[in-house]
Amino acid sequence: MMIEIKTALPGPRAQRAIERDHRYVSQSYTRSPECPVVAERGQGVWVQDVDGNRFLDFAAGIAVCSTGHCHPEVVKAVQDQAAKLIHMSGTDFYYLPQVDLAERLAKLAPGDFAKRVFFGNSGTEAIEAALKLARYKTGRHQFISYFGAFHGRTVGAMSLSGSKTVHRRGFGPLLPGVTHIPYPYCYRCSFGLTHQNCGLACLKYLTDLVFKKTLPPEDVAAIFIEPIQGEGGYVAPPADYMQELQEVAREHGILLVADEVQTGFGRTGKMFAMENFGVVPDLIATAKGLASGLPLGVTIYRSDSSDWVAGSHASTFGGNPLSCTAALKTVELLESGIMANVSRQSPVFMERLRSLAQAHECMGDVRGVGLMIGVEIVKDRQSKEKDPARRDALLAACYRRGLILIGCGENVVRFAPPLVISQEEAEIGLEVFARALEETERAGSK
Ligand SMILES: Cc1ncc(COP(=O)(O)O)c(C=O)c1O
Repeated sequence: MMIEIKTALPGPRAQRAIERDHRYVSQSYTRSPECPVVAERGQGVWVQDVDGNRFLDFAAGIAVCSTGHCHPEVVKAVQDQAAKLIHMSGTDFYYLPQVDLAERLAKLAPGDFAKRVFFGNSGTEAIEAALKLARYKTGRHQFISYFGAFHGRTVGAMSLSGSKTVHRRGFGPLLPGVTHIPYPYCYRCSFGLTHQNCGLACLKYLTDLVFKKTLPPEDVAAIFIEPIQGEGGYVAPPADYMQELQEVAREHGILLVADEVQTGFGRTGKMFAMENFGVVPDLIATAKGLASGLPLGVTIYRSDSSDWVAGSHASTFGGNPLSCTAALKTVELLESGIMANVSRQSPVFMERLRSLAQAHECMGDVRGVGLMIGVEIVKDRQSKEKDPARRDALLAACYRRGLILIGCGENVVRFAPPLVISQEEAEIGLEVFARALEETERAGSK
């Protein structure tokens, strides 16, 4: 298949849909002004809009459509399940897809200990469940999270987030007891150091300053961390940070919560991104790619005598039969080839992007793991000054050429294609990106 753009963009039907959307749908959605696709159907890495234009999708519904759009086996499994049982409420009754998925996830998640699974409908609910459970289990009330973090939109998750003030402005008071610390963001080290000689200064900030001056570690219930910061800019930390953090948490009886909402489910070439670092969290929250697009958020936790009791937390729709069926099929497909494809296609992206970076001064940093890759757009490599305007111009130029690409952070382009992408499809999209880079460069030099 190829990209095919038949109309001016957005096309006439898309324009009408966008106008109606702007009248009736909540203004609170971010949307992507640079890439206003009005999707009608999708297959694999291809999305057709309402005017019949065919786009190549490097965003996968924000890292959700892991098995590609409408994978035929996922569609069939969901259709079959819909004909049998759509809802029963796992809060009060039992049904096989939920039990099967809980068993599968408990066995899949890292850690040689008993695990259980809580079912919600979204990433933020998975985080909210982790927050409540961490308080319950430890009897402590303080939390640590990171600048640049994004954990969701409910009040608890929002209080943990630290990536943009617009997420919080006007919504206070927030949850008390959250301390934000610097993320190991080596390209923009908060301490002006380089990883080779930093002695993990950002972790020392926690252990030597925060824990000694303001926050007694024995009050801390949990540390929430994204193995790779997503909305914050696809920031991949060094492995030793994650390993040391695990030690610090263990030393103080603090639960380590991995927010794998975006990194989870094969996107980094492992089922869970923490496996790349050899780290075993106490709780894992995951969602997005787990059910190939059906709503599902889960919290997988180490189960012991401090667990919560019947009635303490639940969700009517969470883990409904359709979503659980889609997730079971997704896991099966990931294990039988798609995850291996991530490891094959990741170098295709990395090598082409790194070679483009040699020719284009505006590509300050190319980083990531698996098919979660960020390119930081800067004014020049020396100053590293962020260039959000150029990033947005790049995204818009890609859209005009039929490539769906979105940003994250202030100035980062995020590459998060469906995990089924072939080398040929990757190369088509990367070629579009290269042309868009040239176009914005020409525009910039005028
Ligand atoms: C790391 C992370 N956590 C939590 C969330 C919230 O997920 P949801 O939008 O499904 O509530 C997101 C969404 O982007 C995310 O990237």
